[in-house]
Amino acid sequence: MDFLIGGRLKVRRLGFGAMHLPAETDPERAIAVARRAVELGVTLIDTAHLYGGGANEELLASALHPYPDELVITTKVGVARTGPGGEWRLDARPEILRDQVEQALRRLRVERIGLLQLHRIDPETPLADQLGTLRELQLAGKVGLLGLSEVTAGELASAREIIDVASVQNRYNLHDREHEPVLRDCAAAGIAFLPWRPVAPVGGPRVAAIAAELGATAAQVALAWLLGHSPVLLPIPGTGRIAHLEENVAAAGLVLTPAQRRRLSGPDLAEIEACFTGVLSGRISRDEADRWASRWHSDDECELDEDQRWALDLLFGIDLRPGPGEDFLHSDDQVREWRDELRRRL
Ligand SMILES: NC(=O)c1ccc[n+]([C@@H]2O[C@H](COP(=O)([O-])OP(=O)(O)OC[C@H]3O[C@@H](n4cnc5c(N)ncnc54)[C@H](OP(=O)(O)O)[C@@H]3O)[C@@H](O)[C@H]2O)c1
Repeated sequence: MDFLIGGRLKVRRLGFGAMHLPAETDPERAIAVARRAVELGVTLIDTAHLYGGGANEELLASALHPYPDELVITTKVGVARTGPGGEWRLDARPEILRDQVEQALRRLRVERIGLLQLHRIDPETPLADQLGTLRELQLAGKVGLLGLSEVTAGELASAREIIDVASVQNRYNLHDREHEPVLRDCAAAGIAFLPWRPVAPVGGPRVAAIAAELGATAAQVALAWLLGHSPVLLPIPGTGRIAHLEENVAAAGLVLTPAQRRRLSGPDLAEIEACFTGVLSGRISRDEADRWASRWHSDDECELDEDQRWALDLLFGIDLRPGPGEDFLHSDDQVREWRDELRRRL
């Protein structure tokens, strides 16, 4: 299962995120995990200046340099220790981007970074300056392809007016599909979408049941679901353990049936309940809750059964918002009753 990033950089679709390599606490294990990833056929490794202020890039170089021809190490720039007290903050001013790219070239021991991603759009620097700087670095031959991270569909569209965007790296997994519209735009344009946090939060009874049917683990089901969901998805699961790495890489060979995919895509009790209590406590805004619901309702793969529909109608059919100056609209007893019914049904 290969993908051509930017139409020319060939990688296997299941990559590896280097953020969790225990560079400081256990450098030997960190190096062993990075080497094992390459041995297992991984050809896309994700790192960032932010991960240890360049230490993660350096670690990858000590583990893997000289690199095999087919290996792509992508790094990210645009977060810097330039806060008032030297703390990390979004900073994509041209001089910062140039400096972090120079550091990355030196630390990774390469003359050119095959794929460079802007870690975050810096709201305090004009977008044209941020992307213009990356474009200059590209024209100077220091960078091959350009990507973005944590962008909305609108930001992606604006960026594409300035540069060719080869990849987007947003948080996305089976249970968190806020960026479905971005994924849709990437798929339409052939842009690689590198979902971060692809495995960590995935669980629940449905995932466990399907994992048991397949003799697989929850992490493998989460990755197999991503790989089957869209051809532009290139997951980059991260781990500091060889056993987890081997398990994750093996997920590329796992195929879910259409029926399993439909079961996985439906909301489960944990999700609906988290949304329900989140709205009531004010942790989740009504808009956010509506986004969850529209995801469940608009997903072609998601086949809601009668009980799930009932739960969603309950959740989204009642007004959970207190008015200005009011306490919650519904009594604790009423909320408890709904929740008990939710638990009985799902
Ligand atoms: N662009 C961004 O803003 C951004 C943000 C965050 C991360 N990233 C990138 O995305 C990569 C992945 O994201 P992530 O690390 O946040 O999420 P993730 O890959 O979904 O989860 C990593 C966590 O899951 C555990 N894990 C991994 N494989 C496992 C398995 N098979 N079974 C059980 N536990 C497993 C790891 O612990 P163990 O070490 O114990 O295995 C680690 O704590 C990162 O490495 C980084 O390169 C990008």
